[in-house]
Amino acid sequence: MQVNQLQYLKEMGVDVWIDRNTPVLNVMDSPAEEKTDNKSDLPKQSSSPELDSLAKKVAVCQQCSLHEGRTQTVFGVGNPNADWLVIGEAPGAEEDRQGEPFVGRAGKLLNSMLRAMGLSREQVYIANILKCRPPNNRDPRPEEVVACESYLRRQIELIQPKIILAVGRIAAQNLLKVDTPIGKMRGNVYQYPDSDLPVVVTYHPAYLLRSPREKRKSWEDLKVAMQIYREDS
Ligand code: URA
Repeated sequence: MQVNQLQYLKEMGVDVWIDRNTPVLNVMDSPAEEKTDNKSDLPKQSSSPELDSLAKKVAVCQQCSLHEGRTQTVFGVGNPNADWLVIGEAPGAEEDRQGEPFVGRAGKLLNSMLRAMGLSREQVYIANILKCRPPNNRDPRPEEVVACESYLRRQIELIQPKIILAVGRIAAQNLLKVDTPIGKMRGNVYQYPDSDLPVVVTYHPAYLLRSPREKRKSWEDLKVAMQIYREDS
């Protein structure tokens, strides 16, 4: 473990107790800085023509009633060639205002989670199950998920990630088409339907803000994801 990774774990709220006699580099089994990304030798791109044209289509979508209340759609952000695709639930108030996923408090924690894994927000791609904000942050309705599903599927086809990190129950259940409680799903490896793309599930950062004691479990999940990524690359 690198010293700055320890710092990010601290930001994430995970206390790492180090024996004074233990070299810092050996304190945990997560050499996340070793193989971080992710085609990093490629020039940084904020989008691709195909993603841009999909984003334009999404921007005018009226497939469900959520379009009536939105300020704007929240398509997704990040590296169009990312190995890591992070999928959350739906935009909140801040995301609806800014047009970018995970920019509020939960987003800050997500950034720390990524940094603890040796990843930056710019290296990964971040998207949501829904592209529009549900009123009062209520759960997405099944018909809204169905209306938005083809957009996410196309994003996955275009980005061709090596692994999906599903954050939160709504993302996990809708991606995998199950109704298993998240406590039972987290830490396991699933496959995105009709593909061999691995999906690892962890708690939503907003939940972790409310239940900081669960951060340690989430870090275990992230280590599982890093392991799978290393094995598959
Ligand atoms: N929560 C999510 O699931 N997605 C966001 O973009 C913001 C908060």
